[in-house]
Amino acid sequence: MSERSAAVMDRNLALEAVRITEATALAASRLMGRGDERAADEAAVEAMHSALNTLNVRGTVIIGEGEPDEAERLFNGQQIGAAQGDPTIDIILSPLEGSTICAKGGYNALAVMAMAGQGAFLNAPAVYMDKIAVGPGLPPGVVDLDETPHNNLKRLAEAKQVPVSDLLICILDRPRHEDLIDKVREAGARVMLIADGDVSGVIATALPDTGVDMYVGVGGAREGVLAAAALACMGGQMQGRLVCRNEDDRNRALRRGIADLSHKYDMAEMAKGDVMFAATGVTDGVILRGVRRSKGRATTHSMVVRSTTGTVRFIDAQHDSERKAGHGWLGR
Ligand code: FBP
Repeated sequence: MSERSAAVMDRNLALEAVRITEATALAASRLMGRGDERAADEAAVEAMHSALNTLNVRGTVIIGEGEPDEAERLFNGQQIGAAQGDPTIDIILSPLEGSTICAKGGYNALAVMAMAGQGAFLNAPAVYMDKIAVGPGLPPGVVDLDETPHNNLKRLAEAKQVPVSDLLICILDRPRHEDLIDKVREAGARVMLIADGDVSGVIATALPDTGVDMYVGVGGAREGVLAAAALACMGGQMQGRLVCRNEDDRNRALRRGIADLSHKYDMAEMAKGDVMFAATGVTDGVILRGVRRSKGRATTHSMVVRSTTGTVRFIDAQHDSERKAGHGWLGR
């Protein structure tokens, strides 16, 4: 395949990626607020799996719903896509990022995936990851996982030429973050606590309209790599370090070929090369609106971005449920 045809293929894939996250979000949104996170998750997985299998690529799920013995579909290592030959791509995904939020009808649930060439993504195990992220246009190394919250905030405020009290820091609302939240508040910054969905929290740092200046804290490693893929496209800085709480976690990491558990990954070690990232809102959130339904139509709000160009494209789509149903399309 020539370089030119590879580029054209990439552009088309971006729209295909949005179709996949749209279908997934539509399916999950049927279960919004129904109190059944498992059903919402299953609907999302089924829709994303079907949609991915229509994609004209030969893909491998690098980070999906778990190891082959833990998930029936979209498991790590699963071959996916309709094509036999090129392009060969790696895929990371979370059909329903925030299944609890979706079940409760809360904020920030997304359908999300990223694609890139082989070997582009960190082979992260299903453990936690300590993360820190800021948006584009800042000096390299302005914040660091190994710095104190006080120092990070001071340096970020200086780089942005604002007082620390202007900074808004997004953190997952968890007991494990009590000390971190106290320290951020003591330093004088404002805090946005989110119930779930830290992929949104990280991406928000790269979208000026959200007002979020930094994301920090411990969340899922899969979500960390997905967020790094988004920032690799949008610009920004991110670091992550795996958090293994027990022997099982350590074995998970070892099985994924990771021996140095204390390694601090920078963004390029988590997502590199020609990366494409797409997300559709399931419920309203910091970065995207959720699915709206009215009179047989559904509206979705998505974003897609490629590292090659850095163009952040927001896509509103109106879907006709009846016609889609007639075509056997799952996401309706
Ligand atoms: P689910 O999709 O499993 O509900 O996870 C959402 C999420 O909030 C992620 O965004 C985050 O990285 C992780 O869970 C945090 O894990 P925990 O809820 O165990 O603190």
